[in-house]
Amino acid sequence: MTPERTLAILKPDCVRKNLQGEVLARIQRAGFRVLGFKMIRLSPIAAGAFYAVHKGKPFYDGLVEFMSSGPCVPIALEKTNAVADFRTLIGATDPREAAPGTIRKEYADSKGENIVHGSDSPENGGIEVAFFFAERELAENR
Ligand code: RTP
Ligand code: MG
Repeated sequence: MTPERTLAILKPDCVRKNLQGEVLARIQRAGFRVLGFKMIRLSPIAAGAFYAVHKGKPFYDGLVEFMSSGPCVPIALEKTNAVADFRTLIGATDPREAAPGTIRKEYADSKGENIVHGSDSPENGGIEVAFFFAERELAENR
């Protein structure tokens, strides 16, 4: 099978807790190849655009505020079955419902502040990697 791309974001709570290295190590140990990563701070407009699919939902404003509250670390990842395997690795949105051993279960405090983002479909994996990275910034092109 050809490798698939997914986008992870180590969210501002992950950075505030100094867990970037620990979480990235778990991602790499699970067999994901890192194509690119950077630390940036999203403006409220950029955070809102990234999560535009949720516009109008009750948690949208809080999500935008949280995602722009401090630096985060977008990471472009590649693996066979990357999208589904990454969502298994991070666990359910609400850490209280996340399976034991998942990243959110282990590190997240709440449904709102849940440490890490993962793309929800292979199509969105490609779109979201391109939201943060130019092709020339990814591993095989540099
Ligand atoms: P993500 O997109 O960040 O990987 O999270 P997800 O797919 O597991 O969940 P999604 O439904 O896409 O929601 C996006 C993010 O919005 C926040 N949220 N808060 N308080 C709430 O009820 C609520 N619901 C969603 C979370 O930060 C969630 O990750
Ligand atoms: Mg989502």
